[in-house]
Parts: sequence; structure tokens; C-alpha cells
Amino acid sequence: MLVSEGTVDDAGVYLLNDEVALVFTVDFFTPVVDDARDFGRISAANAFSDVYAMGGRPVMALNVLCFPDGELPPDAMAEILLGGEDTAAEAGVSIVGGHSVSDRELKYGLAVVGTVHPKRVVTNAGARPGQALALTKPLGTGILMTALKEGKLSAESLAEATAVMRRLNRAASEAMVEAGATAATDVTGFGLAGHASAMARASRVTLEIDLASVPLLRGVREFLDAGVFPGGLATNREYYGRSVSAAAGASADPIYDPQTSGGLLVALPEESLARLSGGLTGRGEREPWVIGRVLPEGPHPIVAR
Ligand code: CO
Ligand code: CO
Repeated sequence: MLVSEGTVDDAGVYLLNDEVALVFTVDFFTPVVDDARDFGRISAANAFSDVYAMGGRPVMALNVLCFPDGELPPDAMAEILLGGEDTAAEAGVSIVGGHSVSDRELKYGLAVVGTVHPKRVVTNAGARPGQALALTKPLGTGILMTALKEGKLSAESLAEATAVMRRLNRAASEAMVEAGATAATDVTGFGLAGHASAMARASRVTLEIDLASVPLLRGVREFLDAGVFPGGLATNREYYGRSVSAAAGASADPIYDPQTSGGLLVALPEESLARLSGGLTGRGEREPWVIGRVLPEGPHPIVAR
């Protein structure tokens, strides 16, 4: 094993030979949007993301589906699986089967196998003091999906959040590998604070996050001010708040928002930022946000300013 559970990384990595290592991961969850097809697309993008976060390329996958019998329109299951196929086709992944069980609550995701060159594995344990921290998607999907459940989200905001969640982290992964990133993770359920502190601990460094530079989706700040946020944000804040030294009280809340199919958090030499940006824009994506830097290990894994 090149990467196993010891460093709480995004996926396991198993060395096959000098040229190829296998990347293996599974992710599935309850619907974040009402549209069945979009849910399938988002869940697949999220499942593939853990392979991209290791610098790998997903190659095949198995569906994991928990479906409540008789409670949903009959074509919902087909639509979810078609959504998964849409994203798989975009990513060049073959879905080769899967397993479904009946369950009270709907859940969908995939177990994914990818490949990576053994010398190009990007773990969460390689951040070095002096490096820059970049993020490739804005935060706030947990807050916006809570607003959706409460009937407060505009169609426009829903479309924007859906597009962000559906977007593959493939371009981000390829660009960060080209740019010589030494550590990466994808930002998902534990929020930026949770995934960043896992990176900090695994790398034995402190990550300094400049809160004003952390990108937020439109409307996120307003919903937060109105008290609209998921229970998971409070849970993350309680748990990971201990890892964060923050001067600014409530303004740190977005870093605790649980993300669905969030972007990559990347540590790389500051002089490589231009290469990362160029790699992303060259693939039709927007530039990453530079949200902080890597410091020598201090008393807290995260310092938020
Ligand atoms: Co992950
Ligand atoms: Co995951």
C-alpha cells in the first residue's frame, strides 16, 4: 500500500508495478437536489473526485444504490443511474455493474477504481512550509442546499450550485499534477476546515487560511446571516473548531460548511501558481483561488485570519 488509512487520505493507493498504482475509493449519499438526473451526475462527480484528489484518473466504477420501494416515481431510479452514466462518460469511466438494496432512504454513489503513476501520487501528507494553498471551487453548497430544502433558493442559484457540484475535478487534478503540487485533497463533508486540518496533520504543518480570500457561491453570506445553514456546519464547527485558531468569529463559518463534490485544496510552491492557473484556464476552467499558505507546524493545524 502506498497510501492507507493512517493519514486519513481521500483514497487507498496500491502499488501494482513500477508504472501503475491502483486508486480505490467509495462515496454515496442521500439526494442533495430534487432532480434525479442531476443527483446522479453530482454523486458520480463526487465519487470520482477522491481519485482526482490523489492525482489519479478514474477508470471504472460500480454503482451503489439504496432505493425505497414504491415511494418514488418508477423512473427515478433509472434517471439517477443515467445521471451517473452522464458523468462517467464525461470522465471516461466505465460503470461495470453495481449493487442495489431496498432502503427507507434513497442513497446513490459509486465505488471507483483509478490509476496513477506511483511517482505522481499526490497525497494529503506532502504540504511544505512556504508553499501556497489554492482552492478550485467556491464554497457554500451545503448552505445553498439547505436553503433549497427550506424553499428559499432561487432557480438561478440552484442552477449555479448544481453546475459547480456536477463539475469534475479532472482539470484541477491534471493541472495540479503538471504544476508540481505536493499535496491535495478534495473538500467534501467535513468542510474546508476539516479537510484542511487533515492535510495539516498528515503533513505536520499549519495551514494559514485568509478568510477574505476564500471564495463563496452567490447568496451564501446572506443565507448564513439569516441563520440558514445545515446541521453539518454546526457539527463541523464544534469538532474542527478546536483545530482552528481564528480571530474572526462568525466570518469563519463558511469554512465549516459541508460541501458536496467540492473542489481541490492544493499545496504547491508559490512559483508554480501561474502554471496551475494556466493548466486550468487552458482546459476551459477558471483560475483557482489562492486562499492561504503553508506554515511550519504550530499549536493549531489551521490559522484563520
Ligand atoms: Co475526499
Ligand atoms: Co470521499
